[in-house]
Amino acid sequence: MNGSPLLLDRAEVDDRSEFRDAVLAGLEQRPRAIPAKFLYDSRGSALFDAICELPEYYLTRTETEILRRAASEIAAKAGPGCALVEYGSGSSVKSRLLIEAMRDLVAYVPVDISRQHLDATANRLRRDYPALRVEPVCADYMTFDRLPVDLSAARRRVGFFPGSTIGNLTPAEGTAFLRRARGLLGGSGAMVLGVDLKKDPRRLHDAYNDAAGVTAQFTLNLLRRMNRELDANFDLSAFAHEAFYNPVEGRIEIYFRSLKPQTVTVAGRSFAFAEGERVHTEYSYKYDDAGIALLARNADFAIAETWTDPARQFAVVYLVASP
Ligand code: AVI
Repeated sequence: MNGSPLLLDRAEVDDRSEFRDAVLAGLEQRPRAIPAKFLYDSRGSALFDAICELPEYYLTRTETEILRRAASEIAAKAGPGCALVEYGSGSSVKSRLLIEAMRDLVAYVPVDISRQHLDATANRLRRDYPALRVEPVCADYMTFDRLPVDLSAARRRVGFFPGSTIGNLTPAEGTAFLRRARGLLGGSGAMVLGVDLKKDPRRLHDAYNDAAGVTAQFTLNLLRRMNRELDANFDLSAFAHEAFYNPVEGRIEIYFRSLKPQTVTVAGRSFAFAEGERVHTEYSYKYDDAGIALLARNADFAIAETWTDPARQFAVVYLVASP
């Protein structure tokens, strides 16, 4: 291992060129857009963890509470001897609720794009559950369709995709994701999916426009990342976070918006921004029962059970593979 901060390892070089290509293409196209996955560098991930604690951001708290109540029922539905495959192994709090309820798990397979994140999660789980076989897989769960670990001892493969991350995909992308998962989990497979529900638009608006401004920092961190990694010169005070609920599409839309006419250099290229011009960074789709059923059906899954909180803000659904 070379200690020099000037030398990047192979993975970092690949990540950086993927980021550069996506940003340059995204700023050249109209309307401008940068894929949401680039929001999650280490500062972005820490800011997202802070978002999950915000009073306005009900999603994490509500889903965790639903899982706390439903974990033993989920374990009973799944039956003994399962392998649990977590897509985007984010908050270990939620996975632990299932790991502890599914007592005789054959293996826990966290899938994450961040090697660092994955190693840290796997080490903590191995320490806390010495009998549990933990098989981390470093992959982008959006393209991941083959398991590099032997799960033949498992009676059933159960996928876990919490946090309403499915909402950051368009319905077509969400269907494609679930179809790939359906293929990987197999004919006896099941999927535990967390989905944020449609509700009072003010509540949704507030969840993405918190009073402390953490969500704004999360969006604007993308500019900071471009400055650092792509030699860009975004003036963070000349752009603003913008998030609103689009009731026709049933989604929160998030952008950064230019507060004045300005030109910015990114990776040696110049980009002019008009005052008010926006760059899209995220969608966060909200679903109702019919929408969830359609998503499941289109991916050859059927809903076996749905758990919600008393105010019906969030749903955890147990999907089973249709024949
Ligand atoms: C990760 N994902 C489910 C979050 C959401 O609610 O769509 C991302 C987020 N962006 C801003 N706040 C939260």
